Amino acid sequence: MGNPISLGIDLGTSELKAILLDESGAVLTHAGVRLNISRPQAGWSEQNPDDWWQACLAALHQLRQQQPDAYARVRCIGLSGQMHGAVLLDQSDQVLRPAILWDDSRAMAQAQLLGHEHPEFADVTGSLPMAGLTAPKLLWLREHEPQVFSQISCVLSPKDYLRLRLTGERISDVSDAAGTLWLDVRKRDWFEPMLQATGLELTQMPRLVEGSASSANLSASAASLLALQQPVPVAGGGGDNPVSAVGIGAIDTGQAFVTLGTSAAIVAITDRVAGNPASAVHSFCHALPQRWYTMGAMLAGASCLRWVTQLLGQVNEQTLLQLVEERLPLTQSAPVATPLFLPYLAGERTPHNDPLLRGGFMNLAHDTTPAMLGYAVLEGVGFGLLDAMHAVQSAGAVVGQCSLVGGGARSNYWAQLLSNILDREICTLSGSELSACIGAAKLGFLAYGRGRDLPGQGMPVKERFVPAAAQQEMLQARYQKFRGLFAAAQALHN
Ligand code: XUL
Repeated sequence: MGNPISLGIDLGTSELKAILLDESGAVLTHAGVRLNISRPQAGWSEQNPDDWWQACLAALHQLRQQQPDAYARVRCIGLSGQMHGAVLLDQSDQVLRPAILWDDSRAMAQAQLLGHEHPEFADVTGSLPMAGLTAPKLLWLREHEPQVFSQISCVLSPKDYLRLRLTGERISDVSDAAGTLWLDVRKRDWFEPMLQATGLELTQMPRLVEGSASSANLSASAASLLALQQPVPVAGGGGDNPVSAVGIGAIDTGQAFVTLGTSAAIVAITDRVAGNPASAVHSFCHALPQRWYTMGAMLAGASCLRWVTQLLGQVNEQTLLQLVEERLPLTQSAPVATPLFLPYLAGERTPHNDPLLRGGFMNLAHDTTPAMLGYAVLEGVGFGLLDAMHAVQSAGAVVGQCSLVGGGARSNYWAQLLSNILDREICTLSGSELSACIGAAKLGFLAYGRGRDLPGQGMPVKERFVPAAAQQEMLQARYQKFRGLFAAAQALHN
C-alpha cells in the first residue's frame, strides 16, 4: 500500500493549484493551471465553474505525470478556495449562470439595504453586509435576474463546486460558509433570518461540516476519471485565508499573518468570535473546530504593485522593486517630496466598506520619479494594512509578530517596510506560496484520521524583519497625512 498521500487543491482566482503532501508534511510535487476572469461590465467579476473543474482535472493530471507512485497513494483530499463567490445550481445540479466572485461589486445597493433593514444581524454573521460577500449577490439576482433566481435549488461556494464534481454531494464547511453572511458564526450553523432576508430557505443551502471532518467520499465515477483508488474521503476544507492559516501553522490565539496577494488581509486567530462589525472587520470561523479568526480585508494588495509596474512601462514588478530599492533605500528617510498613494483601486472593505472608493497619488511634482511612485504604492498598501490592523485590534484580537504570505512576500524590501509601518516583527516563510494547498492537504489527513500534529506544524522562517526605530517618526507623520486624504477620496464619488 505504501505511505498515504494527501491531495491538496486550492481554487484561487487567477490559478488553481494542487499538491501531493506526505504524512510528515513534505510537499512531493505541485502543479498549477491559470484561470481567466470575465468582467462583462464595470465592477463585475465572473468565472465559469466548469473551467474550475477542467483546471482541476488538468492539475491532477500534471501531478500524476510528475509523481505516478505518490499519486497512486492518494488516500484523502482537502479543498481550499476563493471565498464569497456564488455558484448557482438548479435541481439537477446544473450551473444556472457564471459564478459571481468575491471582487464583484454589483450588489452595493443590496448590501446597503441588508445593513439598513437588519443592523442586528452583523453581530451574528460576523460582518457587515458588503457587496463582495455572497448574500447581497443573491438579493441582486432576485431583482435583476428573477428567472435565474426562481430556479435556484442550491447556492455553493466556489471550492464546494469542485467537491460536487468529486463526490456528487452538496456540502460546504463552516469557514467558507461564514463568508456567505448566512452563517451564525458562534453556532457554526446556518442563520435562517438572513436566508429569509435574501429570499432563500435552508433547503437551498448545502450541508455543513467542519474543515477537518470528512464530508463525503470520492464518487465511483470521479475515482475512475482521476485514476484514484477508493475510498478517498474529501475533508470539509475551507476558505483560502483560514486554510492558508492551517498551512503555515497559525491555529492558536495570538498568531497572526498578513497575506499580500491580489487582495491583502491581516488575519488574527482567536478562540472566540472577536468581532466589531462597525469597523468593517470580518470575524469568521476558522477551518478547525472551536477556533475563529478576525480579519481586516483589503480589495487591492500586490495588485497595486502590478498596476503601477504596467503604468510606468517597467518590465516587471522585480525591475520596479530594484529601482525603488536603489533610489529609496530603507536606511534613509523618504524625501518629503515623495508622493502618497491611496490603494483603493477596487474600492475597500476594511475599515471603509466602500466599493466605490478609488485610489490616487497626491503630492506629485515635476521631479517625481518612477521610483518614488513605486515606493508610494508599497507604502500606501502598508498604510492600508495598518488601518486594517487597527480595525482587527478594535475587535479585541491580538496582533503580535506576523508571518507574511502571498506573492508580495517575495520582496524583502516590502517586508521590511511593512515591519516598519505595522511596528511588528514580520517573518517570511519558505514554501508559503503553497500555504493554502498545504493547509488543504493537512485537513485531508485529519479527515482520514491521520496527521493530528500537522495543523500546528509551521513553515521554516526564511527571513525576519524587525521594525527600524529610525523610521518610525517619519512613517507616523506620513500615515497621518495618508489618513487626511481619505475624506477627499470619498467626496469624489458622493
Ligand atoms: C477574503 C477574500 C479573498 C478571497 C480571494 O475575504 O475576499 O481573500 O477569498 O482570495
